[in-house]
Amino acid sequence: MRKKIVAGNWKMNTTVPEGVALAKAVVEKSAQVPAEVGLIVATPFTHLCPVAEVVSDTRVELSAENCADKEKGAYTGEVSAAMVASTGATWTILGHSERRQYYGETDEKLVEKVKLALANGLKVILCVGEILDERQAGRHFEVVKAQVENVLFNFSAAEMASIVIAYEPVWAIGTGLTATAEQAEEIHAFIRKVLAAHFGEQVAEDTTILYGGSCKPSNAKELFAQKDVDGGLIGGAALKADDFIGIALSF
Ligand code: 13P
Repeated sequence: MRKKIVAGNWKMNTTVPEGVALAKAVVEKSAQVPAEVGLIVATPFTHLCPVAEVVSDTRVELSAENCADKEKGAYTGEVSAAMVASTGATWTILGHSERRQYYGETDEKLVEKVKLALANGLKVILCVGEILDERQAGRHFEVVKAQVENVLFNFSAAEMASIVIAYEPVWAIGTGLTATAEQAEEIHAFIRKVLAAHFGEQVAEDTTILYGGSCKPSNAKELFAQKDVDGGLIGGAALKADDFIGIALSF
């Protein structure tokens, strides 16, 4: 059975003390959430070490928001997968639309990043999703299919056990515009079909597929009720522990 997960992507928000306080509040409130729901906080690189201390020996797992596409060396300003793993983080988000849009993250680079993350024992939340123009042109299926194929088809069925997919329609991120539950379900089921055709039914059934984009306590229940929506990748609402936990209580 695939795992239900609610992951908070803090993006470029909070100072270190604010982030530590937020992580503490999430840990404190996490007892309310049924044990079968995985809870992940994804923090800026600067926060990983102190937040790792806060979440150690708790049910809350720690993620980076990115890692480098190179192993190590003269890449000023980059942070490698090995460095992320050495903080105590066990996950990294990769391919977020903001990385694709503002920092030139291509599917080719993502293949390298996923390889390095897995090689360093990190699990991966790989983000896919179409922009508004693509949705309006009816191209969302083909865009998402290409993103899944270009990156994930370079990995084995066994490696897929360490990879979660987050479907985040770019037009729904931070806009207050949420995909309807039907729109989310339609694409999630489609992604599962794409996985099944390549990796087989079992991998498709076992892969957690999260929804992201203006998910909040008021709409999470309807989204999570969909057969192929296994949880959420939460931006803005993850910056308040009560909202984040409220979403995790929505299964
Ligand atoms: P919002 O929840 O702020 O729309 O962000 C979603 C997101 O990008 C999570 O990665």
